[in-house]
Amino acid sequence: MAPISIKRILISESVDSCCMKILQENGIQVIEKPNMNKDDLIAEIKDYDGLVVRSATKVTADVINAASNLKVIGRAGTGVDNVDVDASTKKGIIVMNTPSGNTISAAELTCTLLMSLSSCLHLSSETWLIVVLIIWQFMGAEMYGKILGIVGLGRIGKEVASRMQSFGMKTIGYDPITPPEVTASWGVEQMSLEELWPRCDYITVHTPLMPSTTGLLNDATFAKCKKGVKVVNCARGGIIDEAALLRALESGQCGGAGLDVFVEEPPKDRVLVNHPNVITCPHLGASTKEAQARCGQDIALQIVDMVKGKCLVGA
Ligand code: NAD
Ligand code: MLT
Repeated sequence: MAPISIKRILISESVDSCCMKILQENGIQVIEKPNMNKDDLIAEIKDYDGLVVRSATKVTADVINAASNLKVIGRAGTGVDNVDVDASTKKGIIVMNTPSGNTISAAELTCTLLMSLSSCLHLSSETWLIVVLIIWQFMGAEMYGKILGIVGLGRIGKEVASRMQSFGMKTIGYDPITPPEVTASWGVEQMSLEELWPRCDYITVHTPLMPSTTGLLNDATFAKCKKGVKVVNCARGGIIDEAALLRALESGQCGGAGLDVFVEEPPKDRVLVNHPNVITCPHLGASTKEAQARCGQDIALQIVDMVKGKCLVGA
């Protein structure tokens, strides 16, 4: 591709410092202005050729339409849900992400939640006395020999599979794009969702949020699951329907949930957060030093490649 001139970049939230360093070493002026509100961003953006964001900055059509010089929006992370990609494309602005920078961290958090659910770790030390009194209610279960259903067998789904296999779990899954022979080579047997739901002791979802994945776990699909199934969502809020999850937890159809993501973040409705059988995190899947360093570096190098006219990557 032809080189593109990028002289000034705005970093509008906390992105690893290596991002700024790499851009500056390549002759790009970088201004960091975190915590701007929408009006401030709209007023500011016209002076920049590039914008680097994580997930807090909402790059809406209003922002994009005010960006008279913008050529690239770099998302230091995987999902581009906070960027209006259609509005950007209409203006000829390239949107880039760093799809593999936080894969390992998100997979590790998923495994942490799966293991925490199996060991009843969500019951805090305050319950120590109660545990002694009614210990059977807090009985955990080994992961060994249990069946984990992985819905979405991309980067993170694959890493979750190999880690949980090392605990002796059997991994089954579903993905409309990743071929069954490919996932079989990583020990994941693919099947239809209809076949998958009733077989799983645990289910974890690793898809993007889109119409076909919104409410993948809902009243009807929970009803097809084993009673007491435990579920994890470290992907996007809404893939597991929150109201259906609450009903399934209340009825015992769902035995526990680990949630890193919510439809509304932070969630104003605290019913799931406060539920005794739910473990929650405030969208921490990518919040490790290593993931942030990789994402910061990847997005800077990709922008430098664009300036030099090299091939672009992303997903
Ligand atoms: P990926 O693109 O590598 O994998 C997603 C997979 O989902 C693909 O293989 C795709 O074919 C599959 N898929 C699409 N539609 C599906 C459907 N209807 N049913 C089943 N599978 C379907 O993405 P990834 O890097 O593995 O990320 C997965 C999700 O995790 C994304 O939503 C991403 O935004 C999110 N994520 C969250 C955090 C976090 O902080 N919690 C961190 C990184 C990524
Ligand atoms: C992502 O899409 O990369 C994750 O949700 C993490 C983040 O928002 O940084």
